[in-house]
Amino acid sequence: MNSPKSLPSPETYNQFLSAPRGSFLIHPELPSSNSISLSLVVPTYNERDNIEQLIKILSDLLNRALPDDYELIIVDDDSPDLTWEAVQSCLLDYPHLRVIRRQGERGLSGAVIRGWQQAQGKFLGVIDGDLQHPPEVLLSLLSSIQGSADLAVASRHIGEGGVSEWSLIRRVLSRGAQLLGLVLLPRVIGRVSDPMSGYFLVRRAAIANRDLYPLGYKILIEILGRGRIDQVIEVPYVFQERQAGDSKVTAQQYWDYIHHLLRLRLTTGRLQKVKRYLQFPLKRLLQFGLVGASGLIIDMSLLYLLFDGLGWGLTRSSLIAAEIAIINNFLWNDRWTFRDASKNQRQFRKTIKRLLKFNLICALGLGIKILLLNIFFNSFGWNAYLSNFLAIVLVTAWNFLLSWKLGWRVTQQ
Ligand code: GDD
Ligand code: MN
Repeated sequence: MNSPKSLPSPETYNQFLSAPRGSFLIHPELPSSNSISLSLVVPTYNERDNIEQLIKILSDLLNRALPDDYELIIVDDDSPDLTWEAVQSCLLDYPHLRVIRRQGERGLSGAVIRGWQQAQGKFLGVIDGDLQHPPEVLLSLLSSIQGSADLAVASRHIGEGGVSEWSLIRRVLSRGAQLLGLVLLPRVIGRVSDPMSGYFLVRRAAIANRDLYPLGYKILIEILGRGRIDQVIEVPYVFQERQAGDSKVTAQQYWDYIHHLLRLRLTTGRLQKVKRYLQFPLKRLLQFGLVGASGLIIDMSLLYLLFDGLGWGLTRSSLIAAEIAIINNFLWNDRWTFRDASKNQRQFRKTIKRLLKFNLICALGLGIKILLLNIFFNSFGWNAYLSNFLAIVLVTAWNFLLSWKLGWRVTQQ
């Protein structure tokens, strides 16, 4: 047999040394010179008694289906039974086999994503390492994804699919979890008949550069929730009984699942749109409002000074007062409210252009203000001061929007 010294050693991740925080990204397509069709990840934890047999079956299958065009990546979380070592001893016999030993980090979803991050394939896949997922189903999954599907999922709940000898309680728990998912995340969980499946292939392009947040056991719902998945094809399979080793599922996985659903609910889909909407530029609007208030004080004081003090005509006084207030507001907004936009275009000509735009916006605003005041006061019969106040608030919001979107827009020339 091979001497241990000549064996390639597993790629090692030490979570304590380089703890990845937050999300994981899958790299986009690799240069075609390196690329292969399929990267199949097998997450393992204490699967020493299954893994060699699985490697043999999968390699035989893939050597026929995709000769020299695939890789098999075992991602082991430093199993106490030394699964990674068992895989390592197979490396020389299987040229398409790779092994990653993650240290200090546990979790099925994270392991799968870690494997995909190291993968070269155009299609990324996952299969359990305990022979409960029948390997031959891989061929149907492959032909689905080689066609037009973005995602090909092995499902227990369509056609000939099923589970072998599950107790009533386990079936109820599994279906209950699915039902909960349907209530919380109908558009994600409802897309496939078996969202709990850990046996699927996904097109790399559908998840590349998407932030993925691995949690718990159910990597498929993360993919469905955050990927660009258009076409899904499901292939039936029967979930086999475990012949060796033990399931790693504990109550923790149920909590993780609920946590995962809630997190997806809060960070994707419709609620996310509402959240984005609420991330309204509140700070900027407040700044704009404060600047507006300073302008109002200047306007009133100047009017008093010119009209009452110097005895100028009302129209002339109010026009001059308004223009000086507008210049005041412009300077503050330019240096403060919209500083980020103006700081790169400080040239005199550009500043004057912004000032003219702001003047135009304010003039338009004044027209709208008078119109609103008339509608509130004359048509609705509201109190004159209330009407004036409401009109000012609405026009300030309108001025803000125009200033933000047009006035301080970064222009090319
Ligand atoms: N690397 C790593 N880290 N692998 C893990 C971990 C972990 O923390 N926990 C479990 N695994 C591996 C196991 O070694 C096995 O290969 C696979 O993930 C599935 O784990 P099991 O504990 O055997 O899960 P199960 O059989 O109860 O549940 C499976 O059933 C579903 C039904 O289709 C899950 O694998 C689901 O993904 C699957 O879809
Ligand atoms: Mn299992």
